[in-house]
Order: sequence, then C-alpha cells, then structure tokens
Amino acid sequence: MKKVTRRKFIVDSTMMTAGAIGAITLGSGVLSPEKAQAAKEKFLETSCGIGKDKGRKTLVAYASDCGSTGEVAEAIGQVLCDSGMAVDVRLVESVKDLSSYQTAVIGSAVHADNWLPEAVKFVETNRKVLSQMPVAYFLTCLTLYKSNEPTRSKARSFLDPVLDMFPQVKPVDMGLFAGVLDYSKLSFVVRMVMKAKMKKKGVPEGDHRNWDAIRFWAKGLNSKLEVLRKG
Ligand SMILES: Cc1cc2nc3c(=O)[nH]c(=O)nc-3n(C[C@H](O)[C@H](O)[C@H](O)COP(=O)(O)O)c2cc1C
Repeated sequence: MKKVTRRKFIVDSTMMTAGAIGAITLGSGVLSPEKAQAAKEKFLETSCGIGKDKGRKTLVAYASDCGSTGEVAEAIGQVLCDSGMAVDVRLVESVKDLSSYQTAVIGSAVHADNWLPEAVKFVETNRKVLSQMPVAYFLTCLTLYKSNEPTRSKARSFLDPVLDMFPQVKPVDMGLFAGVLDYSKLSFVVRMVMKAKMKKKGVPEGDHRNWDAIRFWAKGLNSKLEVLRKG
C-alpha cells in the first residue's frame, strides 16, 4: 500500500502519566527520543485502490497505543482493496470528515477492558453518519492470546460499552483479534505493571496476531459491506 499522509505520534495518557511518574520517581521511564521516533513511525496511514470503486471509498479507522493495531487495520484495508474497494487507513484522530466514505471499519487496541478513548470518541462524534452506513468494528487485545469460547466472549464484551452508548450504530460484524505484547514499547512503570499482570495471566511477550484469522475476517466483511452498500 502506498503511504500518502503524515504519520502521527500519540502517546496514551495512561502511558504519559505512568511515564512521567516513572521519570520522577525512578529517574527513568519515559521513551527515549529514538524510541519515540520509532513509535511515531509505527502509526500507519495508507490509501489504496483510489479511483477503483466508482468513486466510493471505505474508511478503516483505528486507535492504537504502540502501533500494532495500525498494522491490523492495514491488513484489513489491503484485503478490502484487493477485492475492489478504494480504502483509506487512518488514525481516528486524523479523520475530520466522513462525507467521502460509503462504508467504515473502526477498530482499537484494548486497554482496561475497553477500546481506547479516542476510538470511542470517534464513534460518538460521528454516530449520526455512522448510523447511516455499513460499519464494522474490531479490536486487538491480549485476552485472546488463547482463543476459546470464554476468552472470545470476554473480548466481545469489551465492545459492549460502545454498542450500549451508540445503539444507532449497528456493526455488521465485529472482529476480535489477539494483539502484541512488546515491553520495549512501554514506559518503565507500565512495563512493570503489565509484566506482573501478564505473568499472572500466562501471556508471554510477543506478537500474537493471527494474520490468517484477520484476513479471513476481512474477506467475509467485504461481502457483508458490499451487500449493504448495494441494498
Ligand atoms: C497499558 C495496557 C493495558 C492493556 N489492557 C488490556 C486489557 O484490559 N485487556 C486485554 O485483553 N488487553 C490489554 N492490553 C493489550 C493490548 O490491547 C494489546 O497489546 C494490543 O495489541 C496493543 O495494540 P497497539 O500496539 O495498537 O497499542 C493492554 C496493553 C497495554 C499496554
């Protein structure tokens, strides 16, 4: 996919606060300039297939703390693009106007059993427009490190607040994906907290994304969005 827009550096407020506390109390913990730059590079914003779909466009908008959800958004966008759609993949903060889109896929990393606040805010701000177009949601989380019925049910519940708050937006599907645990991307304090939590839960550091599952979901999504667009 061709890179067309600026990349953005966003540090989740939790991480900033934790990082600041870490810096004050422990003399370390904030991202080094090199790591900050590396993180900045990670927030993908791409476009593909422009002009392909009779002027119609699909938005894949995402919220991410460490960057891996952007790569999931990108993979989803690529599948939709390969099936003939014109797609923009964007950070939710970058999308100011939905008028050029006919369909939208919105996703986020999960923190504290919820979508990141900026993803929730995005749906809130655009709820009227989103209620009038085919929409799908997705999330990435570590609850799905082991995928079974209880973990899938728990992961699905992370979307309940969004579904409850904005019932007028009715997703045609919800993708639930395992994410990434990379301690090197976390500030000192958050790293310590996560290490303790993940040890307890038996989740090892690593990239737990299942690309086949992500692409399979996106392929199915294509026909669901398509049917609704035509209907
Ligand atoms: C501070 C923090 C809190 C998290 N909280 C949860 C959580 O409550 N439930 C969960 O399943 N995963 C949780 N995760 C895991 C992330 O959702 C997962 O690592 C995701 O892939 C990160 O995506 P990103 O690289 O786009 O930020 C948390 C990760 C971090 C760093």
